[in-house]
Amino acid sequence: MLRRHAEQTRLWTENRRFAVVPAGRRSGKTELAKRRLVIGLAEKKSWPDPRYFAAAPTRDQAKRIFWADIKALVPKGWIKRVYESDLCIVTRWKSELWVVGLDKPERIEGVAWDGGVLDEYANMKPETWTEHVRPALSDRRGWCWLIGVPEGLNHYKDLVDYARAGTDPEWGHYAWPSADILLPEELDAARRQLDNRTFRQEYEGSFEGAAGTVYYAYSTARHEDPGIAIDIRLPIILCCDFNVDPCVWEAAQTDGRTVRVFDEIRLSNTNTFEMGKVAKARYGGHKAEVVVYGDSSGNSRSTAGRSDYAILSELGFTNQRIKRANPCVRDRVNAVNAMLENTRGEIRLTHHPSCKALRKDFETVVWADGGTEIDKREAAKTHATDALGYFIESEFGLRQARPDADRRFYK
Ligand SMILES: Nc1ncnc2c1ncn2[C@@H]1O[C@H](COP(=O)(O)OP(=O)(O)OP(=O)(O)O)[C@@H](O)[C@H]1O
Ligand SMILES: [Mg+2]
Repeated sequence: MLRRHAEQTRLWTENRRFAVVPAGRRSGKTELAKRRLVIGLAEKKSWPDPRYFAAAPTRDQAKRIFWADIKALVPKGWIKRVYESDLCIVTRWKSELWVVGLDKPERIEGVAWDGGVLDEYANMKPETWTEHVRPALSDRRGWCWLIGVPEGLNHYKDLVDYARAGTDPEWGHYAWPSADILLPEELDAARRQLDNRTFRQEYEGSFEGAAGTVYYAYSTARHEDPGIAIDIRLPIILCCDFNVDPCVWEAAQTDGRTVRVFDEIRLSNTNTFEMGKVAKARYGGHKAEVVVYGDSSGNSRSTAGRSDYAILSELGFTNQRIKRANPCVRDRVNAVNAMLENTRGEIRLTHHPSCKALRKDFETVVWADGGTEIDKREAAKTHATDALGYFIESEFGLRQARPDADRRFYK
């Protein structure tokens, strides 16, 4: 049900030309924006073809976020034609609404727009606004909402700072935490699955700097446990990342809530077959199954014409749970950090002292490129945490709750 929300109402009624909205996840940014676009279609202009865009970082994303909902929101009597392949709706009085992906900003350029929405703006290229969108809004004095959760101290933060300063009356800044909107049990689930920094960013709309160390929640005192031993009843999880020098795999077990990494295989100047043979020698006799997780690019990479996973299959490791594509680095790191310590202070990931490369990674891996990538300059590092991360993200990563159709607040 719709709850009257002060900040959402302010965004709606102030009607500033440009609005930045770094509010939390599932807090109604996109829903409000769709509504704003649909209202726009009916606004009277002194030119024959008012034109609006609903944009996201990629076309797929834009279509997923906007298309079906916008079609449902525009009253049937308004619609003249719907162009499914162009993702465009034309009204009877010739106003147009386009759903576009800004992976190709030329879709926006060279046309005069009356208004639009940039969703997940933090994930767009920094020049999207200044070079492509803002100029296209000049001719018709078009409006724009720039919405989405923060993503580090990037171009979004710069615009938010500008709007917040309050020196430019065309700009407004609106933010509210997810807690205002989201059901408490969903917020609780997020608290369990996220570390503090990520929770603040995603659910409180906070701009968090990427502090140097990637796995900042780690400390030997809390995460290293010499008491870890194999539980013969539980499967062994073999976490793989495919490298040559060195190659590092981690072996772990889970009870579904916690993960204990009990062993590590580390070889220099090696290959998948050699690594697999060591794994077979160590865990081949295990009563419960051995399950392989790892880098999805191991499916296409090949050594002597066979993929890494085909080699592992031939060695008897046939139970493989490999994603078709790897998750993005941020999601993988966030999932690992949340297991190291979530917002409730729970530690759910520990390792045996024999996992030396893992410990070294946890202690020393740092961000590069302002926090968008992991620093990979040292060949010996990141393989252990990468390998383990594929498994952790698969099984313990945050699954975004699907929008609940009954909680739509208009229609
Ligand atoms: N004031 C409100 N009262 C009740 N429910 C609301 C309110 N505002 C939004 N919602 C509901 O919250 C849900 C999330 O909305 P929406 O998809 O717009 O979130 P979002 O901020 O875009 O999230 P994300 O960052 O995940 O894209 C929707 O189901 C919406 O109907
Ligand atoms: Mg959204």
